[in-house]
Parts: sequence; structure tokens; C-alpha cells
Amino acid sequence: MNRIEGRFLHSKRQVYEGQGSSPSLKFKVTHLKYRAWKFPNWFLKLFLKSAGLFEQGRKNALDLRLENRVLNVQGLPEELEGLKILFLSDLHFGNELELIEIIVKKFHGIKVDLCLFGGDYQYYRSKSLEPTIEGMKKILSVVNASLGIFAVLGNHDTIELVPELEKMGVRTLMNESILLEKNSLPFYLVGVDDPLYFDFHDVEKAFRNVPDNSFNIFLSHTPDLYKDASEKGADFYLCGHTHHGQIQFPLYGPLFLHSQAPRELGLGEWSYKDMAGFTGPGVGTSGAPVRFRCSPEVTCLELRSSKNS
Ligand SMILES: [Fe+2]
Repeated sequence: MNRIEGRFLHSKRQVYEGQGSSPSLKFKVTHLKYRAWKFPNWFLKLFLKSAGLFEQGRKNALDLRLENRVLNVQGLPEELEGLKILFLSDLHFGNELELIEIIVKKFHGIKVDLCLFGGDYQYYRSKSLEPTIEGMKKILSVVNASLGIFAVLGNHDTIELVPELEKMGVRTLMNESILLEKNSLPFYLVGVDDPLYFDFHDVEKAFRNVPDNSFNIFLSHTPDLYKDASEKGADFYLCGHTHHGQIQFPLYGPLFLHSQAPRELGLGEWSYKDMAGFTGPGVGTSGAPVRFRCSPEVTCLELRSSKNS
């Protein structure tokens, strides 16, 4: 039996996924808010099509980059200097099937220490998991991560995906941590369930086995938990979800990031107090399947205690 099955979390989250009888008022309001976004997205698509910009937007959305980024992380132990993390988020299989082949071709043979997935594998919560399962299998066939492959769920993902991910060797962190080791130094990876739509994150619980002063990486779908994570002593916060707005305007940037976190925490590299952070632009799209001035990205992060080292 999968370690998630039969747990309280499973039955409780199913209520929120429409399989139970009484979702809370808060959940109903969030659900309606998300449904309402269908209309502006529909108008945007129509506008882009009539302005002759839709095809260019699609082309941009499929122009996937592998970006190598060096990040300064305060307090990074010497043993972890140069730790390489391949980070993928917001794949949205179902909306972006073309991207699977591009990833497989571009990233074949890539070698890293850790491969982390930041959630939103699915696009349609109510449709078959098949495109997501097939897409993930193909991507995993080209990734070589010596310390393992780990994931968290996003606001588009159902809990039924967890056993499927785990069958493929992707350990899915549901408000829990895992002990890792590199160069004989133990460190922790902490992951939380979706804080945005399902509201099932529990930062306190996720950190309960993480000793004070041990180096840790915090993985969440969205940047919204930056205060809680910082209070618990997270050293590096990694997330996605914002898509960097998908459409950015000259001088202003994106109109919406769909996050309660300050705007600067939704766009790439950031820091909050002693905690370093990175919010990726994501691989796929949601809403209108286009991008402008905002390329899709798989990120290869290299952690350094100082950018000059
Ligand atoms: Fe998301």
C-alpha cells in the first residue's frame, strides 16, 4: 500500500477535491474565484487571435530554455558548495503536451544532485491522469539525480497523482521532510502541500523533524509561505506557480502573479531576512496558452555561499 493511502490527509483532501460532501465556505469561495478567471482568459485569447498575436504567443510558450543560475545562499555549508538542483514546475500536462518532447530532446543526459518538481503537473483536475503520468515518465527517463527526485503538489493537482508519482520514484513531500546527505553532511529537504487552492499546507508539521541549525531547502508550490518558512529557519525557499505572469509589459512587467506574496518574491531570485529564494517562471502555461516577454524555463540551480567564490 502506498504510504499516503489510508491516511487522514487522503480522506480529508478528497472532500476538497469534490469527492466528499461538505467543502468549507473558504474553499467554495476560492473555487469560484478560480472559475471566474475563465472569462478574462477567454477574452484574452479572443483578443490575441483577432490581433494576430496568438501564434507568436504560442511560439514563445514553446521556446523552452534550460537556464543555469548560480544562487547565493547565506549559511550554505562548505560541503554543499556547488550543489546542483534541476527545478521544474508548472508543467500543466494537458495544456502543453508539445513541451514533453522538447524537454526530452534538450535535457537528455543531464546530471545533477537533486531534481525537484514544484507542482502543477496536471492542468484539468477533473480529467484523466494519463497525460500527466505519460509526460512525467518521459521526463524522468532523461534525468539523472544522484540524491533523488522529489516533488510537492500544486493547486492544479489531485491527491490521486501522489501514488502515481511515487511509483515512478518521485518522492512527494506532503507536509514532511526528508534527510539527505552530500559529502558526509546531512541536510533536509522540506515540502508542503498546496497552500493556495486546497489550503492543505502545514509548515509546522513539515519542519517537525528538522533540527535547529541544520541546513534545509524548503519546497512549496507558491511563494506565499515565505514568512512561515523564514520563522521555521528555512535557508532556501524554492517555488513556482506565478509563471512570472506569462505576459510581461515593457517597464511594468506582469499584470498578475496570483500570489499574496510581495511582487518581488514572484519573479526569479529573491531574499527575505536570512532566507534565499527562487520562484521559477514554470514550464507550461495556464489560462491563455501563450507567453510574451517571459520564456518558459527548466532551471539548473547551483548553490553557492557567495557569488564570488
Ligand atoms: Fe499553480
